[in-house]
Amino acid sequence: MIESNNYKEALQNPIFEIISKAAEQLNVQSYVIGGFVRDYILERNSKKDIDIVAVGSGIELALQVSELLPNKPKVQVFKNYGTAMLRFEDIDIEFVGARKESYQADSRNPMVEDGTLEDDQNRRDFTINALAFSLNKETYGDLVDPFNGIQDLKDKRIVTPLEPNITYSDDPLRMMRAIRFANQLNFTIDETSLKSITENSERIDIISGERIVEELNKILMCDTPSKGFLLLYKTNLLERILPELTALNSVEEIEGQTHKNNFYHTLEVVDNICKNTDDVWLRWSALLHDIGKAPTKRYNKKQGWTFHGHEFLGGKMVKKIFQRLHMPLNHKMRFVQKMVIMSSRPIVLSEEAVTDSAVRRLVFDAGEDVENLMTLCEADITTKNPKKFKKYHNNFTIVRKKIVEVEERDHVRNFQPPITGEEIMEIFNLPPSREIGQLKESIKEAILEGEIPNEYEAAYDFMMKKATIMGLQVVNPKM
Ligand code: CTP
Repeated sequence: MIESNNYKEALQNPIFEIISKAAEQLNVQSYVIGGFVRDYILERNSKKDIDIVAVGSGIELALQVSELLPNKPKVQVFKNYGTAMLRFEDIDIEFVGARKESYQADSRNPMVEDGTLEDDQNRRDFTINALAFSLNKETYGDLVDPFNGIQDLKDKRIVTPLEPNITYSDDPLRMMRAIRFANQLNFTIDETSLKSITENSERIDIISGERIVEELNKILMCDTPSKGFLLLYKTNLLERILPELTALNSVEEIEGQTHKNNFYHTLEVVDNICKNTDDVWLRWSALLHDIGKAPTKRYNKKQGWTFHGHEFLGGKMVKKIFQRLHMPLNHKMRFVQKMVIMSSRPIVLSEEAVTDSAVRRLVFDAGEDVENLMTLCEADITTKNPKKFKKYHNNFTIVRKKIVEVEERDHVRNFQPPITGEEIMEIFNLPPSREIGQLKESIKEAILEGEIPNEYEAAYDFMMKKATIMGLQVVNPKM
């Protein structure tokens, strides 16, 4: 942590001098505020966007800054919000005028008025995000910290500047932000804040899916997302955002037989996968891989607890969740669905002797995503029995090796049938018909089963034998 009487050092980017000059010309005060300041002091070298607050018009300040820059870059103005943005290659700079908000009990909409810097700091989310560096001539680089945010940075605490109920009702997304920052920075949320979040949890319902998902993604991108998800759970937010997950939090016992708690198991899987991937969608897959287990859970005397078809149902539930939270309904969603649907395949494989044909089928079905699927399944091993743990991992190592071997030999990852439907039609002089499909399917099956290699000649011979059985006549032989 960097502690100093003055933070000029933080303001080495020449843009700060220019903002300072522009503000002086307009006769307004200006400050850097928020994440840039917090992260500089914490020595987090996250590439930060910069937030500038002007005690006056943020838009005018942005326009003046542009005037002072050599190529007078375009200023994006968001009139409704009273903000403006200058975009550079490596950084965005957002300008906002200092505001004061007063809330009236009978109105949902705040009355926004111009305010002082302190008014503006008051209405920010956390004391550690209300820290500001002065860009004014006489005090350039001085820290402005009315709520002792520095102390909270030292104590690693998330505290709201105002009474928590006020801060959170100002923008209920802040309840999730508190948890996200606690997770990212490894901080503790102040007790009164935590209580307030729990009491106000249902207010998250008014927040858009897009904003919620932004925070969920940031939690998922932490080193140990379980910490964030446990806080979401404890404060009842998770129940409102992803009830499919909280539904997994149960252990039932019938006739002395129990099943594992799939909620805590899921969180372990998520933490595990974070050690091996930075792909947020693979992390989502880990989070959702077992959601089908709550609705498919059954007990019967013979088998005990079963979750038949949970992967398939889980895949359907993924789509519902993505729709509900306004997440992308494109290839990202289909990837998560595929991971969920296939999530048990390698495990079944690894429990038995690993055969070539089973691996070939796995590679055929998973295609390009087979390595990601393996990463998910390795993360899924949470058994506390060291013998089993070792056995499963060893088997997965064998599976991974076989994937490479089988792929080198048979190229089924992006399977293209060695003989096309058009060719079959020509050889037998057939119109599009069921027979064509049957022949194609039997060639594919023979390749996957390892009866023939994935090559034209072998496929041709195989097809001829099959055609004879089917009573088809060769009209235009190819070989
Ligand atoms: N802010 C706020 N309430 C919110 C969102 C933002 O008070 N709901 C304020 C905080 O002062 C915050 C600043 O706006 O520091 C910038 O917000 P944002 O860019 O979302 O967050 P950062 O703090 O910059 O951190 P990160 O980029 O990690 O999200």
